[in-house]
Amino acid sequence: MSTVASLVREEDAASVAAPPRDIRIALLGLGQVGSAVAALARTSTHASHRFAVASALVRSPERVRPIDPSTLPLTMDGAAALDTRPDVVVEVLGGLEPARTLVLAALARRIPVVTANKSLLAAHGDELIAAAARTSTPLLHEAAVLAGVPFLGTFSRRPLASDVTALSGIVNGTSNFILSRMAADRAGFRQALLDAQQAGYAEPEPSKDVDGDDATEKLCVLLRHFAGISVAPALIDRTGVGGVEPCDLECASSFGGAIRPIVAAEWESGTPSAFVGPAFVASSHPLSRIDGVQNAISLRTRWSGDVFFSGPGAGPTVTAATVLDDVVEAVRLGGTPPLLRATRTVTSCDVPVTGWFIRLVADDLSDAQRAPATLTRLGVRVRRVSPVVERYGQQRQWVLAGPCTDAHVRAALDVLETTAGCRTRPIRAIE
Ligand SMILES: NC(=O)c1ccc[n+]([C@@H]2O[C@H](COP(=O)([O-])OP(=O)(O)OC[C@H]3O[C@@H](n4cnc5c(N)ncnc54)[C@H](OP(=O)(O)O)[C@@H]3O)[C@@H](O)[C@H]2O)c1
Repeated sequence: MSTVASLVREEDAASVAAPPRDIRIALLGLGQVGSAVAALARTSTHASHRFAVASALVRSPERVRPIDPSTLPLTMDGAAALDTRPDVVVEVLGGLEPARTLVLAALARRIPVVTANKSLLAAHGDELIAAAARTSTPLLHEAAVLAGVPFLGTFSRRPLASDVTALSGIVNGTSNFILSRMAADRAGFRQALLDAQQAGYAEPEPSKDVDGDDATEKLCVLLRHFAGISVAPALIDRTGVGGVEPCDLECASSFGGAIRPIVAAEWESGTPSAFVGPAFVASSHPLSRIDGVQNAISLRTRWSGDVFFSGPGAGPTVTAATVLDDVVEAVRLGGTPPLLRATRTVTSCDVPVTGWFIRLVADDLSDAQRAPATLTRLGVRVRRVSPVVERYGQQRQWVLAGPCTDAHVRAALDVLETTAGCRTRPIRAIE
């Protein structure tokens, strides 16, 4: 009869005896992430697997790359890359085409696919998941959101823990770096963006990051993963970080919080509500402490309470490590059904009821209680009022208000603008 100890010894012996398995990868893309995947594949000392790049798809073979490509089998032909009969296809091209066509072609041939491409998943996730389900082929995407924090796969394997009803997070490192720099140095948005570009944290063309589009695509991936809801990015309410002023950040700090680039969603009622944009985060919320390029996510689970993950959201090497772990997982899963679950498509997405952090600007705000009193009379619950300060030749004041709907706060601010002659800019507030 086997004892537990003898079984463990037998398992140990089996794992020691088994030679590492070779995994042949078709690498679609050899840019920042693809180069790091190729480099890590070469050097990694994985106990059970060795990686070999069977083909590397590029657009411009002559381009200077982070890795010396002379020892890699480069190709400019996507179909030829798939013809090398890889064990796994790694899609790190970015964008929608030819990524979509090549991923569908790989799944049709039952070749497992690992992708880090949130744009592809946000735009064509339904089609790709259906193709993966039809052929029982793994389609893994751990690196598409919080690339350096592997949490999606863990939750997929744990149905009770993954019964998530709401989430909030910081999923764009560029925007978080900019707001952190503005808060720390009292720098303006343009200077902070320049600093981000010089540090390599922002693209030369940064609009996808600073306008909230990148974060919105990641939120779509998270909604599909945790809520089983497919929602088009265009349906999600979003604001960029470009309108935040250094004095907003100063005031947020004086209120005991911080302004962070937030994604948030809830779906318990069945209809999802979501937003993407800069928000006041109370110091009691763990997201208030995530600064620089760090990313984080807080998940409200039905059975395990609130769980929180933080770490690097991007960077070639951390992303490559997550991608290669997905490669091993894809081989392990083989022909078992993919991790991505079936989804229901929604044609609208509400905006959640949240608190508000409101900037008031006027030539004269000398009666510091007037505007807050008007808001109170209009049913907006005023929690904090800042002193009036002079900035950019005008007076400014901030009000932190309790939860109310968008329609309610905007109607109240319309009245305030008309009666008190001030301009207003509300952003959301979360606790
Ligand atoms: N960078 C990160 O830290 C990070 C983190 C998480 C996820 N991701 C995701 O990973 C993916 C790749 O990001 P990246 O930063 O590595 O991008 P990148 O540096 O722009 O690399 C893209 C690669 O794809 C190749 N490519 C693009 N279009 C092609 C086409 N039509 N035909 C053939 N090759 C084509 C490019 O070829 P050439 O080199 O010849 O131009 C390049 O090698 C994106 O989906 C991104 O969102 C990136």
